[in-house]
Amino acid sequence: MEILILKEVDSTNTYIKENCTTIKPMTMVAAVEQTSGRGQRGNCWETERSKNLVFSFYFHPLGILPSQQFVISEAAALAVVSTLHDFDISANVKWPNDIYIDNKKICGILIENSILGTSITTSIIGIGLNVNQTEFLSDAPNPVSMKLITGRDYPLSIVAEKMSVNLDYFFGLLSTEKGRESIHALYLDNLWRGDGSLYPFKDVATSDIFMASIADVELTGHLCLKKESGQTCRFAFKEVEFIK
Ligand code: BTN
Repeated sequence: MEILILKEVDSTNTYIKENCTTIKPMTMVAAVEQTSGRGQRGNCWETERSKNLVFSFYFHPLGILPSQQFVISEAAALAVVSTLHDFDISANVKWPNDIYIDNKKICGILIENSILGTSITTSIIGIGLNVNQTEFLSDAPNPVSMKLITGRDYPLSIVAEKMSVNLDYFFGLLSTEKGRESIHALYLDNLWRGDGSLYPFKDVATSDIFMASIADVELTGHLCLKKESGQTCRFAFKEVEFIK
Protein backbone atom coordinates (compact mmCIF):
# COMPACT_ATOMS: atom_id res chain seq x y z
CA MET A 1 0.00 0.00 0.00
CA GLU A 2 1.41 3.37 -1.00
CA ILE A 3 1.02 6.33 1.34
CA LEU A 4 0.25 9.81 0.00
CA ILE A 5 0.22 12.70 2.46
CA LEU A 6 -1.80 15.85 1.80
CA LYS A 7 -1.04 19.02 3.78
CA GLU A 8 -4.64 20.14 3.97
CA VAL A 9 -7.90 18.81 2.61
CA ASP A 10 -11.59 19.19 3.41
CA SER A 11 -12.21 15.46 3.74
CA THR A 12 -10.00 12.60 2.57
CA ASN A 13 -13.12 10.63 1.59
CA THR A 14 -14.27 13.50 -0.63
CA TYR A 15 -10.76 13.88 -2.05
CA ILE A 16 -10.69 10.21 -3.07
CA LYS A 17 -14.16 10.50 -4.62
CA GLU A 18 -13.02 13.45 -6.72
CA ASN A 19 -9.62 12.01 -7.69
CA CYS A 20 -10.16 8.29 -8.12
CA THR A 21 -9.20 8.43 -11.79
CA THR A 22 -5.65 9.51 -10.87
CA ILE A 23 -5.12 7.73 -7.54
CA LYS A 24 -4.44 4.01 -7.57
CA PRO A 25 -6.67 1.68 -5.56
CA MET A 26 -5.29 0.79 -2.11
CA THR A 27 -3.33 4.05 -1.83
CA MET A 28 -3.57 5.48 1.66
CA VAL A 29 -4.39 9.17 1.26
CA ALA A 30 -3.67 10.78 4.62
CA ALA A 31 -4.09 14.40 5.68
CA VAL A 32 -2.02 16.51 8.06
CA GLU A 33 -5.05 18.75 8.41
CA GLN A 34 -8.62 17.81 7.56
CA THR A 35 -10.87 20.85 7.70
CA SER A 36 -14.31 19.29 7.10
CA GLY A 37 -13.98 15.70 8.22
CA ARG A 38 -17.18 13.77 7.77
CA GLY A 39 -18.53 11.21 10.22
CA GLN A 40 -21.45 8.83 10.25
CA ARG A 41 -25.03 10.15 10.37
CA GLY A 42 -23.94 13.47 8.82
CA ASN A 43 -21.77 14.31 11.86
CA CYS A 44 -18.43 16.13 11.67
CA TRP A 45 -15.19 14.37 12.54
CA GLU A 46 -12.90 16.37 14.80
CA THR A 47 -9.16 16.03 14.34
CA GLU A 48 -6.43 18.39 15.53
CA ARG A 49 -3.82 19.34 12.93
CA SER A 50 -0.99 16.77 12.68
CA LYS A 51 -2.07 14.86 15.78
CA ASN A 52 -3.99 11.94 14.34
CA LEU A 53 -4.05 9.45 11.52
CA VAL A 54 -6.88 10.51 9.20
CA PHE A 55 -6.93 8.87 5.82
CA SER A 56 -8.98 7.19 3.11
CA PHE A 57 -8.36 4.69 0.38
CA TYR A 58 -10.49 2.98 -2.19
CA PHE A 59 -10.65 -0.43 -3.70
CA HIS A 60 -12.73 -2.46 -6.12
CA PRO A 61 -14.38 -5.22 -4.13
CA LEU A 62 -14.50 -7.95 -6.76
CA GLY A 63 -16.81 -10.82 -5.94
CA ILE A 64 -18.55 -9.10 -3.03
CA LEU A 65 -22.29 -8.69 -3.55
CA PRO A 66 -24.03 -5.58 -2.22
CA SER A 67 -25.83 -7.84 0.28
CA GLN A 68 -22.39 -8.88 1.63
CA GLN A 69 -20.90 -5.38 1.82
CA PHE A 70 -20.76 -5.46 5.61
CA VAL A 71 -17.62 -7.62 5.38
CA ILE A 72 -15.77 -4.53 4.08
CA SER A 73 -16.60 -2.78 7.36
CA GLU A 74 -15.43 -5.82 9.26
CA ALA A 75 -12.09 -5.88 7.41
CA ALA A 76 -11.48 -2.17 8.08
CA ALA A 77 -12.39 -2.49 11.75
CA LEU A 78 -10.09 -5.50 12.21
CA ALA A 79 -7.19 -3.67 10.56
CA VAL A 80 -7.58 -0.89 13.12
CA VAL A 81 -7.86 -3.31 16.06
CA SER A 82 -4.70 -5.12 14.84
CA THR A 83 -2.84 -1.84 14.45
CA LEU A 84 -3.68 -0.85 18.01
CA HIS A 85 -2.63 -4.32 19.11
CA ASP A 86 0.75 -3.70 17.40
CA PHE A 87 1.19 -0.87 19.93
CA ASP A 88 0.05 -3.07 22.84
CA ILE A 89 -3.34 -1.38 23.02
CA SER A 90 -6.31 -3.68 23.31
CA ALA A 91 -9.44 -2.48 21.48
CA ASN A 92 -12.78 -3.89 20.39
CA VAL A 93 -15.27 -3.23 17.63
CA LYS A 94 -18.48 -1.60 18.74
CA TRP A 95 -21.12 -2.73 16.27
CA PRO A 96 -21.19 -1.85 13.49
CA ASN A 97 -17.68 -0.38 13.12
CA ASP A 98 -16.59 2.01 15.84
CA ILE A 99 -13.38 1.11 17.61
CA TYR A 100 -13.64 1.26 21.37
CA ILE A 101 -11.33 1.00 24.32
CA ASP A 102 -13.49 0.26 27.35
CA ASN A 103 -16.30 2.82 27.03
CA LYS A 104 -14.44 5.27 24.83
CA LYS A 105 -14.18 5.70 21.08
CA ILE A 106 -10.65 5.83 19.64
CA CYS A 107 -11.48 5.49 15.96
CA GLY A 108 -14.34 6.07 13.55
CA ILE A 109 -14.79 4.54 10.12
CA LEU A 110 -16.84 5.95 7.26
CA ILE A 111 -17.39 3.64 4.30
CA GLU A 112 -19.01 4.88 1.12
CA ASN A 113 -19.83 2.20 -1.44
CA SER A 114 -20.98 2.81 -5.00
CA ILE A 115 -23.37 0.13 -6.14
CA LEU A 116 -24.31 -0.52 -9.75
CA GLY A 117 -26.87 -3.26 -10.32
CA THR A 118 -25.67 -6.32 -8.49
CA SER A 119 -22.10 -5.24 -7.86
CA ILE A 120 -20.17 -2.83 -5.69
CA THR A 121 -18.08 -0.85 -8.14
CA THR A 122 -15.98 1.16 -5.69
CA SER A 123 -15.64 1.26 -1.95
CA ILE A 124 -14.15 4.32 -0.23
CA ILE A 125 -12.95 3.61 3.27
CA GLY A 126 -12.24 6.58 5.54
CA ILE A 127 -10.59 6.04 8.90
CA GLY A 128 -9.94 8.53 11.69
CA LEU A 129 -7.70 7.12 14.41
CA ASN A 130 -7.03 9.38 17.39
CA VAL A 131 -3.31 9.10 18.07
CA ASN A 132 -1.71 12.06 19.90
CA GLN A 133 -4.67 14.39 20.49
CA THR A 134 -5.41 14.90 24.19
CA GLU A 135 -8.16 17.53 24.15
CA PHE A 136 -11.37 17.17 22.18
CA LEU A 137 -13.52 20.23 21.64
CA SER A 138 -16.52 18.85 19.77
CA ASP A 139 -19.51 17.33 21.52
CA ALA A 140 -18.44 13.81 20.56
CA PRO A 141 -19.49 12.01 23.74
CA ASN A 142 -16.52 9.85 24.67
CA PRO A 143 -13.37 10.36 22.59
CA VAL A 144 -10.02 8.89 23.54
CA SER A 145 -6.63 8.62 21.83
CA MET A 146 -3.62 6.34 21.96
CA LYS A 147 -1.77 9.02 23.94
CA LEU A 148 -4.60 9.37 26.45
CA ILE A 149 -4.46 5.61 27.01
CA THR A 150 -0.70 5.15 27.40
CA GLY A 151 0.71 8.65 28.04
CA ARG A 152 3.06 8.26 25.07
CA ASP A 153 3.44 10.19 21.83
CA TYR A 154 3.43 8.12 18.66
CA PRO A 155 5.15 9.05 15.38
CA LEU A 156 2.30 9.18 12.86
CA SER A 157 4.49 7.70 10.11
CA ILE A 158 4.99 4.53 12.13
CA VAL A 159 1.30 4.23 12.97
CA ALA A 160 0.49 4.76 9.26
CA GLU A 161 3.02 2.11 8.24
CA LYS A 162 1.57 -0.51 10.63
CA MET A 163 -1.95 0.41 9.52
CA SER A 164 -1.06 -0.04 5.86
CA VAL A 165 0.34 -3.53 6.53
CA ASN A 166 -2.83 -4.54 8.41
CA LEU A 167 -5.09 -3.09 5.72
CA ASP A 168 -3.21 -4.98 3.02
CA TYR A 169 -3.64 -8.17 5.02
CA PHE A 170 -7.36 -7.86 5.79
CA PHE A 171 -8.35 -6.42 2.40
CA GLY A 172 -6.35 -9.21 0.78
CA LEU A 173 -8.51 -11.72 2.64
CA LEU A 174 -11.62 -10.15 1.10
CA SER A 175 -10.82 -11.68 -2.27
CA THR A 176 -11.75 -15.25 -1.30
CA GLU A 177 -14.82 -16.80 0.30
CA LYS A 178 -12.62 -18.49 2.90
CA GLY A 179 -10.91 -15.19 3.70
CA ARG A 180 -14.26 -13.46 4.13
CA GLU A 181 -15.41 -16.22 6.47
CA SER A 182 -12.31 -15.79 8.61
CA ILE A 183 -12.84 -12.01 8.73
CA HIS A 184 -16.41 -12.49 9.94
CA ALA A 185 -15.35 -14.99 12.62
CA LEU A 186 -12.61 -12.65 13.85
CA TYR A 187 -15.01 -9.71 13.86
CA LEU A 188 -17.38 -11.67 16.13
CA ASP A 189 -14.45 -12.56 18.42
CA ASN A 190 -13.52 -8.90 18.79
CA LEU A 191 -16.97 -7.45 19.43
CA TRP A 192 -17.36 -4.85 22.15
CA ARG A 193 -19.87 -6.11 24.72
CA GLY A 194 -19.87 -9.41 22.88
CA ASP A 195 -19.22 -11.50 25.97
CA GLY A 196 -22.79 -12.83 26.29
CA SER A 197 -23.65 -10.60 29.29
CA LEU A 198 -26.74 -8.40 29.40
CA TYR A 199 -26.35 -4.72 28.47
CA PRO A 200 -28.86 -1.88 28.07
CA PHE A 201 -30.07 -0.99 24.55
CA LYS A 202 -32.56 1.47 23.11
CA ASP A 203 -34.92 0.57 20.27
CA VAL A 204 -34.75 3.76 18.18
CA ALA A 205 -38.22 3.35 16.61
CA THR A 206 -40.08 2.86 19.92
CA SER A 207 -37.61 4.44 22.40
CA ASP A 208 -38.02 1.23 24.38
CA ILE A 209 -35.05 0.55 26.67
CA PHE A 210 -34.25 -3.09 27.29
CA MET A 211 -31.53 -5.41 28.54
CA ALA A 212 -30.10 -7.90 26.07
CA SER A 213 -26.98 -9.80 25.14
CA ILE A 214 -25.43 -9.85 21.69
CA ALA A 215 -26.41 -13.19 20.14
CA ASP A 216 -24.91 -12.65 16.70
CA VAL A 217 -24.02 -10.24 13.94
CA GLU A 218 -25.27 -11.59 10.62
CA LEU A 219 -23.27 -11.46 7.39
CA THR A 220 -25.65 -8.70 6.32
CA GLY A 221 -24.52 -6.66 9.33
CA HIS A 222 -27.77 -7.02 11.28
CA LEU A 223 -27.30 -7.14 15.04
CA CYS A 224 -29.16 -9.98 16.76
CA LEU A 225 -29.96 -9.36 20.39
CA LYS A 226 -31.31 -11.82 22.92
CA LYS A 227 -33.56 -10.03 25.37
CA GLU A 228 -33.82 -10.93 29.06
CA SER A 229 -37.14 -12.62 28.23
CA GLY A 230 -35.32 -14.98 25.83
CA GLN A 231 -36.85 -13.30 22.76
CA THR A 232 -34.39 -12.61 19.93
CA CYS A 233 -34.60 -9.39 17.87
CA ARG A 234 -32.73 -8.32 14.78
CA PHE A 235 -31.71 -4.72 14.09
CA ALA A 236 -30.19 -2.88 11.16
CA PHE A 237 -27.70 -0.03 11.66
CA LYS A 238 -29.36 3.01 13.30
CA GLU A 239 -32.34 0.95 14.51
CA VAL A 240 -30.82 0.26 17.91
CA GLU A 241 -28.40 2.08 20.19
CA PHE A 242 -26.12 0.96 22.95
CA ILE A 243 -26.75 2.78 26.21
CA LYS A 244 -24.00 3.43 28.77
C1 BTN B 1 -17.63 8.19 12.51
O1 BTN B 1 -18.50 9.04 12.59
O2 BTN B 1 -17.41 7.41 13.45
C2 BTN B 1 -16.81 8.03 11.25
C3 BTN B 1 -15.68 8.99 11.23
C4 BTN B 1 -14.79 8.83 10.02
C5 BTN B 1 -13.72 9.89 9.98
C6 BTN B 1 -12.74 9.67 8.88
S1 BTN B 1 -11.35 10.74 9.01
C7 BTN B 1 -10.81 10.30 7.42
C8 BTN B 1 -12.04 10.15 6.55
N1 BTN B 1 -12.40 11.42 5.98
C9 BTN B 1 -13.57 11.87 6.41
O3 BTN B 1 -14.10 12.94 6.08
N2 BTN B 1 -14.08 11.00 7.29
C10 BTN B 1 -13.24 9.84 7.46
